Amino acid sequence: LRRNVSMSPLERDSSIPYARIAENIGIVSSRLNRPLTLSEKILYGHLDQPRTAEIVRGKSYLKLRPDRVAMQDATAQMAVLQFISSGLPKTAVPSTIHCDHLIQAEKGAKQDLDRAKDINREVYDFLASSGAKYGMGFWGPGSGIIHQIVLENYAFPGGLMIGTDSHTPNAGGLSMLAIGVGGADAVDVMAGLPWELKAPKVIGVKLTGKLQEWTSAKDVILKVAGILTVKGGTGAIVEYFGPGVESLSCTGCATICNMGAEIGATTSVFPFTHRMTDYLNATGRADIAKAAAQYSSKILEADKGAVYDQVIEIDLNTLEPHINGPFTPDAATPLSKFREAVIRNKWPQDLKVGLIGSCTNSSYEDMARSAALVKDAAANGAKFKSEFTVTPGSEQIRATIDRDGLVKVFESAGGKVLANACGPCIGQWKRDDVPKDTPNSIFTSFNRNFTARNDGNPATHAFVTSPELVTAFSLAGSLLFNPLTDSIEGANGKKFRLKAPTGDELPTRGFDKGEDTFQAPPADGSHVSVKVDPQSQRLQLLAPFEKWDGKDSYEKLPVLIKAKGKCTTDHISMAGPWLKYRGHLENISNNFLIGGLNAELNDVNKVKNMFTGAIDSVPGTARAYKAKGIKWVVIGDENYGEGSSREHAALEPRYLGGLAVIVRSFARIHETNLKKQGLLPLTFANPADYDKVSGHDLVTLKGVSKLAPGSTITLVAHKADGSSVEIPLQHSMNEDQIAWFKAGSALNLMSQTRK
Ligand code: F3S
Repeated sequence: LRRNVSMSPLERDSSIPYARIAENIGIVSSRLNRPLTLSEKILYGHLDQPRTAEIVRGKSYLKLRPDRVAMQDATAQMAVLQFISSGLPKTAVPSTIHCDHLIQAEKGAKQDLDRAKDINREVYDFLASSGAKYGMGFWGPGSGIIHQIVLENYAFPGGLMIGTDSHTPNAGGLSMLAIGVGGADAVDVMAGLPWELKAPKVIGVKLTGKLQEWTSAKDVILKVAGILTVKGGTGAIVEYFGPGVESLSCTGCATICNMGAEIGATTSVFPFTHRMTDYLNATGRADIAKAAAQYSSKILEADKGAVYDQVIEIDLNTLEPHINGPFTPDAATPLSKFREAVIRNKWPQDLKVGLIGSCTNSSYEDMARSAALVKDAAANGAKFKSEFTVTPGSEQIRATIDRDGLVKVFESAGGKVLANACGPCIGQWKRDDVPKDTPNSIFTSFNRNFTARNDGNPATHAFVTSPELVTAFSLAGSLLFNPLTDSIEGANGKKFRLKAPTGDELPTRGFDKGEDTFQAPPADGSHVSVKVDPQSQRLQLLAPFEKWDGKDSYEKLPVLIKAKGKCTTDHISMAGPWLKYRGHLENISNNFLIGGLNAELNDVNKVKNMFTGAIDSVPGTARAYKAKGIKWVVIGDENYGEGSSREHAALEPRYLGGLAVIVRSFARIHETNLKKQGLLPLTFANPADYDKVSGHDLVTLKGVSKLAPGSTITLVAHKADGSSVEIPLQHSMNEDQIAWFKAGSALNLMSQTRK
């Protein structure tokens, strides 16, 4: 078998550990003594301790060794700041940073990019210099969208990667397990620690038949989303198999995996096919294709008789094109029923804007098939009736479709090519064609269509569909159109029917790489200095948190807030306008718990300062306590910290001087994040005791010096009338995690150990 194939042509000194993955699979196979699914093979092939790890799908926690990390510019800022504060000289695994989220679409590619470079200069400079210093590849603004760049350059069959973005699973199109995580997880992996994941269940999707003329890969996932709904994939990997898989291109498989995020799946994956070989060859990675082929049956396909927790079957021969939305990606309507649904639901019938591209759908195939429709229309004298935009997923795609004349086809029909960036997909869209709050419809080939996601207008009805359908509907300008049955008016009022879309899967002349926007890290980056302006409002270097002061008992601490009901990471650390402070812990801490409902005042962002009696905001009160050197606690309800894995929700209370978060129950990732930052996450031994503490009590915590796995902490709630009540608390910290608390944070411990 071939040895030492590098993970990417851009990282010649890395190598794909196929032999180790295969060996680990062998160990686990004989231990479990049952056939394994494809995703189990890749996952267990990356176990830190394959001989001893407990493996029960849906139950046990796996310690894994991912091959690589990718980060986008919004989430990379805090991840990189944390990595810097670990004191490590270089990332332990190959890692990359991608500048794609901070570019706003308004006038067109060039002007928008220039403006973004100007506005975000300090963030880009910081990420570029950190990348050079710590050995991370840096893809500057204009290079493209993280997932497209990963597919073109870094994804490889059988690999395991994590990325700080929910659509990381896109790389499943190249038979890689790629999982979206929060920044704290990325920091662990970059620092060389194993990464923990609850062993996922496996949902099998069996594909039979062959895609028909107007259907595309996108319709597979739109259909799956309709079946499983936005929650149906939670805690599971979606694994595709069956004879229909061969009829899908590699990039089509990536589209399907990308949108697995919309059903809450941990990730999605396809077995290795010859279409992936074609893609690897076309993107300069023939060596990887050859090595993968050699390991195909061992690693890259499910064992015969592998058992899935649930199986869905889709016949591609009869699969219809779908249009999902508005307002949720699981509202799936087949094309043949769409007109009727538009009328019945009174959705705005004019199509205002059609948008193709994004990380989900900007392959050469997508562009070629869409352009074929526009060419056909042009031959009949028709142009776009709606506004039409193209967001290329990468500079390579943009340059190639430009060279091959596709850009000209779109532009001649009235389309506009935007920057290679997220743009309208993440709300970075300065739209001026309809006033805010005016109901209107748009079609996108993106993935998410929650209220106001694209343009900030809650009245915009956004529908998600294939690029081909976005294009056909934009030529017709109406939601009542059906390209399979209806005609469009061409020159001189002559009616014509669009021919079914066709297009090359890969460019016959090869890819044109376009402008070089990649900065490879130097072999030795130790001389590079990372600049952060101390006056900056967007970036701030992290100072290590103080270590535990050794006390056993903390007397009469104020309860900052007793939060009632649902308290997600969005309530704890809001997004929206706060996104710009993602790299500035002090500034973003001003959003701490401003969405949490105060159980005592029945109001949000209003709490009583227990020493002055003043009513102030939550962060304002926390800062007042901190200024006086007073530690505080938060009391929370059930499943506290559910939602995203946002590490700011744990960094902020630590920064503001909190000691403990005491709740009925935690969402697991948030609980772990609190432990990592050196806070005490505690639960009521009896959840009903939540009612025995008031947000206006002072609380004493006893037993901290005796922290051990399974130990208890006693809370004494001191009431205003002088009485008190004792309440037992529990924690779930293991030895390692207790050491994090004592050191002040997991990062502190890591740098201590290193020293
Ligand atoms: Fe960007 Fe939208 Fe994809 S925000 S990463 S293009 S899902």
